[in-house]
Amino acid sequence: MRGASASTISALPSRVVINTILPMNVASSTRRQFASDNYAGICPEAFAAMEQANAGHEVSYGNDNWTFKASNLIRDVFEINCEVFFVFNGTSANSLSLASLCQSYHSILCHELAHVEVAECGAPEFFANGTKVLLLPGEGGKIDPSSIESAVKKRTDIHYPKPRALTVTQATEVGTVYSLQELEQIRVTARKFQLRVQMDGARFANAVVALGLTPKELTWQAGVDVLCFGGTKNGLAVGEAVVFFNPELAREFDYRCKQGGQLASKMRFLSAPWVGMLKDGAWLRHAKHANTMASRLAAGIRSLPQVEISYPVQSNAVFAKMPRSVVEAMHERGWKFYTGVVTPDESRLMCSWDTTEQDVDAFISDMKQLTAVPIPV
Ligand SMILES: Cc1ncc(COP(=O)(O)O)c(C=O)c1O
Repeated sequence: MRGASASTISALPSRVVINTILPMNVASSTRRQFASDNYAGICPEAFAAMEQANAGHEVSYGNDNWTFKASNLIRDVFEINCEVFFVFNGTSANSLSLASLCQSYHSILCHELAHVEVAECGAPEFFANGTKVLLLPGEGGKIDPSSIESAVKKRTDIHYPKPRALTVTQATEVGTVYSLQELEQIRVTARKFQLRVQMDGARFANAVVALGLTPKELTWQAGVDVLCFGGTKNGLAVGEAVVFFNPELAREFDYRCKQGGQLASKMRFLSAPWVGMLKDGAWLRHAKHANTMASRLAAGIRSLPQVEISYPVQSNAVFAKMPRSVVEAMHERGWKFYTGVVTPDESRLMCSWDTTEQDVDAFISDMKQLTAVPIPV
């Protein structure tokens, strides 16, 4: 097995720093961490459903009862007859769904911090056969709606890749959420320029509970054509659902999934956990819990000297600027978290469905001791 530093650093920009003191197998068995919501295990509801799905034989390639049930539960959640596909991860969900919105000569507009731009190794361009990703600015990880119009109007000649899709991340990469008003501004502009809207919802559950709105209000009623509905960070072992609210755009998406290596032969193990999560609202409970833990963490951090929170804490992420010596000392105490995901001096702290109040308080207690010592000048 590879060590934590090798596998995690390789997935992030080289300036991202994580401590390398403990190999992953030691650290993960002894302490819950704030490095990523991917560090958490499988939540009990998903695990139980997976266990049930393991009884006996089932039809393969998605023609099974679990997949049928999970798709219908997603239709219930969104209160619409949408098309649903289960894939292994967020990169494929984003890339394949964006590819289905574009031709190769089109472009995709996204925020400059978007996962599709900074953390998918060019997969959206690859799966869309060269569709170019164009970057938009905006405070707090959110697209400034006026920048959409500027990007579309910047060039309209035949020599420039024609903007055709817009992707928004909800919750964003820095843990903020788009309000309904912000989504409406985006919807109006997108429609004006005939841009199809894709939502990267790796943390969609966190956004739903943070905003206190219904899934339909935040998606198809807000002009979203396709949502990548995140399951992994919410408590699944693996898997995201690609949800098309505009069925025309889903045409032959099954072929795209197969060609992209995303058609699971034992599909029931991707779909059954969704049944466990959705049937009695566990997905919302877990997201709410993770958000609450992030608020607790933020409150603790705000009480400390020398540390500053960088973005409004609206979902399960806290970004904090702390002295380098404190980062290093926290790592020495065994805490794992990334620094430099967004800017070199910001550390990212993520809460998960299984983060406890004790985890948060222990982290804050260590930070308190370390920040009480003035930094030598
Ligand atoms: C905003 C966002 N989108 C998508 C993903 C999914 O990526 P992966 O391909 O690692 O599942 C992530 C994971 O970190 C993410 O943070």
